[in-house]
Amino acid sequence: MSSSLAIGVDIGGTGIKGAIVDLTGGTLVTDRVKVPTPRGGEPDDIVETVVQMIDGFGVQGEGLPVGICFPAVVLHGRTMSAANVSKRWIGLEAEALFEKALTRDIRFINDADAAAVAEAKYGAAKDVGGLVILSTLGTGIGSGLLFDGVLIPNAELGHLEIDGKDAESRAAYSAKERESLSWEDWAKRLQRYFETLDALLSPELIVVGGGVSKEYAHFVPLLKLRPSIVPAVLRNNAGILGAAWMTGAAS
Ligand code: BGC
Repeated sequence: MSSSLAIGVDIGGTGIKGAIVDLTGGTLVTDRVKVPTPRGGEPDDIVETVVQMIDGFGVQGEGLPVGICFPAVVLHGRTMSAANVSKRWIGLEAEALFEKALTRDIRFINDADAAAVAEAKYGAAKDVGGLVILSTLGTGIGSGLLFDGVLIPNAELGHLEIDGKDAESRAAYSAKERESLSWEDWAKRLQRYFETLDALLSPELIVVGGGVSKEYAHFVPLLKLRPSIVPAVLRNNAGILGAAWMTGAAS
């Protein structure tokens, strides 16, 4: 039975979340643990925080496969960018760093890719054909692309330049908070962002994820778009579930 259990950890620019997951039904079998991302987002500090989190699962977590997702382009276990964490991550052998500290093999992927995989397995993108874009609205804007349910990794559509600006600096949830925008004013920025995605990629479906997706009633109905747009079913647990899924423990 334990073969369908895995630990998922979702590292963000603001918080680090983790839980033990049952991959059979895509459910959390422990409470979700959440701690702040260490100030500065330095590699050693983040690794240490994740080690402590996993130790905190005690015997329940012993020997379980670990999947970790992170807010950067991840190629062959290396972090190739760093938008809301220390620039020291760029070019780092991140997967190997975590494996050494945790003394076990892990899977390490982009956070929005993890969320997209989870929504495809258990949530809003399940059985949806064609192109689906999962867009996480948090500290940054993450993008996970699925075609017929298959992940196309490392899309960085949050960094599209729109009206001369990095899109996430205007339309991420952090921009709403930083500038104290009303839902209506924020929705105008999202409208511009999602319209641009549609013009470039013509998706069948856009899934809105990130913590703010639980408040979707305040802004999703304000968006007038050609593709369907729906909130993520797994809300802010999608990264944890997707990272755990990528360990392969479900098969
Ligand atoms: C990063 C992405 C990440 C997204 C959400 C962006 O700033 O470049 O890799 O998926 O934030 O965390």
